Amino acid sequence: MIPKPTVDTILETARVEEVIGDFITLKKRGANLLGLCPFHGEKTPSFTVSPAKNIYKCFGCGKAGSPVNFVMDQLTLSYPEALKWLANKYGIEVVEKEQTTEEKQAQTERESMYIVMSYAQRYFSDKMNNTDEGRSVGLGYFKQREITQNLIEKFGLGYSLEARKQFTEDAVAAGYQPKYLVSTGMSILSNNHIEGQTIESKNLFDRYAGRVMFPIHDVGGRVVGFGGRILSNDKKLAKYINSPETEIYNKSKVLYGLWFAKSAIQKNDKCFLVEGYMDVIAMHQAGFENVVASSGTSLTVEQIKSIHRYTNNIVVLYDGDEAGQKASARAIPMLLEEGMNVRLLFFPDNDDPDSYYRKVSHSEFEEYVNNNTQDFLYYTANKLNEASKGDPIKKAGVIKTIVSSIALIPDNIIRSIYVKECSQIMELDEKILLLETNKIRAAHKKQFHKENNNDVINETEIINNSVTENKEQEVIAPFEAEEKELIRLLLAYGNAYVTIEADDENMEEFDLEITLGEYIFFELSRDAIKFENPIYTSIFDEYVNELSQQRLPNLTYFANHSNPLIGSFVINHVHSNYELSDKWKLYGVLVPNELQLLKKLTRTTLFSYKSKKLNEMYNESQELLKTNDYENGLIISKTLDDLNRMRVRVNFLLGRVVVK
Ligand code: CTP
Ligand code: MN
Repeated sequence: MIPKPTVDTILETARVEEVIGDFITLKKRGANLLGLCPFHGEKTPSFTVSPAKNIYKCFGCGKAGSPVNFVMDQLTLSYPEALKWLANKYGIEVVEKEQTTEEKQAQTERESMYIVMSYAQRYFSDKMNNTDEGRSVGLGYFKQREITQNLIEKFGLGYSLEARKQFTEDAVAAGYQPKYLVSTGMSILSNNHIEGQTIESKNLFDRYAGRVMFPIHDVGGRVVGFGGRILSNDKKLAKYINSPETEIYNKSKVLYGLWFAKSAIQKNDKCFLVEGYMDVIAMHQAGFENVVASSGTSLTVEQIKSIHRYTNNIVVLYDGDEAGQKASARAIPMLLEEGMNVRLLFFPDNDDPDSYYRKVSHSEFEEYVNNNTQDFLYYTANKLNEASKGDPIKKAGVIKTIVSSIALIPDNIIRSIYVKECSQIMELDEKILLLETNKIRAAHKKQFHKENNNDVINETEIINNSVTENKEQEVIAPFEAEEKELIRLLLAYGNAYVTIEADDENMEEFDLEITLGEYIFFELSRDAIKFENPIYTSIFDEYVNELSQQRLPNLTYFANHSNPLIGSFVINHVHSNYELSDKWKLYGVLVPNELQLLKKLTRTTLFSYKSKKLNEMYNESQELLKTNDYENGLIISKTLDDLNRMRVRVNFLLGRVVVK
């Protein structure tokens, strides 16, 4: 048990931003920090960390808590385990009280397994450095592969002696229970063990005898598995033997090297993905620490997500051999689908990072890696273009290939940029590429809906992201959320053109093209609606004033406004809205689909705001009616009638918007 004063010290010392910063990339947003929520899949960040309150909260999924809760969740630890993890991070000494026998027994199975793995790591390292066999065979092997002492220590490399039961016997003699040697996969039960009986060491042998050992760490830095490499070139034997999936080693989640790479990935905003243990180590040796491998399994979505917490950018460095090509053909679509920017790096002559590193000088390697990555989609488009040049039939065929990759990109804007660029590279009409891309997306979506039978609003997410943010605020004023959203839309997208249905003098409907800003103004003014919040009123009035002088109001003006309240509103709620407005400005495009969503979002917000407003005005007038004389009463009744008509119309429109 951890003594109470130590618990207090740990809880007082642990800083939420530092602890969470170990796991995900956080960006400053006002007084808070913001990142992609590690608890639910999201593409726009709604996970908020408050250093002042020392808590985190996700406005997407609602998860919230303290540093210790976060560690418990992320590393699946019990409360005391999480405290110990934090103590270790902050160098706080934990002197545990002597445990009673019951407490000892209650120590979880998992904890025992971690202890066994930690012992095994130290054991293999000790045997490699301090036995004749270890030094000549194990250490000799790593030396021959030119791995420095420094990295041998950093990665905790070791050697498992050739004697078939050596590790098992030594571990049991040191007091580790045979059942945990089996449950961690370190030892294997032999045939002479009778099922149901207590596991004895005489029935066990080592899994890795005679191999060099690569410990596999989880994201919290604990050893959860091993890869063991054979030293001979005997093709009949497996080159690597890996730990089996166990209670503490979830193979689809763990990435080799992530523990050592986390901070470098954040710092460089980029992650190299390689195939093997040796490649990770070679990259470190070359000075690239932002590198991981999906060793022993093919890359999984969970692994991609754990990279995505730190960066959007991935460089795939798979071997050029058949296995490597197969692996990247499988991995790349998954990476694109998760919204990663994918680049490729090929080494000459089918080398892998490790073999290439040993062929060239340190600086040549570094230079090669820094200068030879290529964007996956542009690379593919160029390749396809060359293959199909001057052959219209072939060309038709390759469109499908490129489009099937582009269609995977979840972000509408990035996708539309790729459509544009790839159509140029391939000398194709952009419209054709766009059409084909949308066809595939529509088919996927149908398929997805069929499988999940639920309504996902992914597409609206990119524009609608402030809706999650609104949840953050306790409602101060009854109309605050709607007003804020309308002002945000006005400032961020006010210059975008939308088509609305309008009535002419004869009440005939016709299509009218106006800016979104004009649309908002038009809708609010025709029901004589005024904002409650004085800041919004000032922004809106100035906006309208600009419009009336035929000027398109610009965001920079408001962001640098002489009224600091206006400036900070723009920065906190418009600028910071996940770069959409920036990206949009940068490329000057909003694809039709997005305009559609934007219009819909604006309409819904407008009408629910109006509906609320009209209700309030109606109630106020009714109150007035009670306290007024006959003459005034007539006027008020007339107002009430008008208001009621407006309410009916707005609710009708709102209903239409909602069901649409
Ligand atoms: N691998 C494995 N089991 C095997 C072969 C490979 O688990 N029988 C995994 C290992 O994680 C290995 C990775 O796949 O690191 C890549 O395999 P390969 O390219 O064959 O090995 P290298 O990493 O290049 O190892 P080395 O340079 O030592 O040959
Ligand atoms: Mn290799």
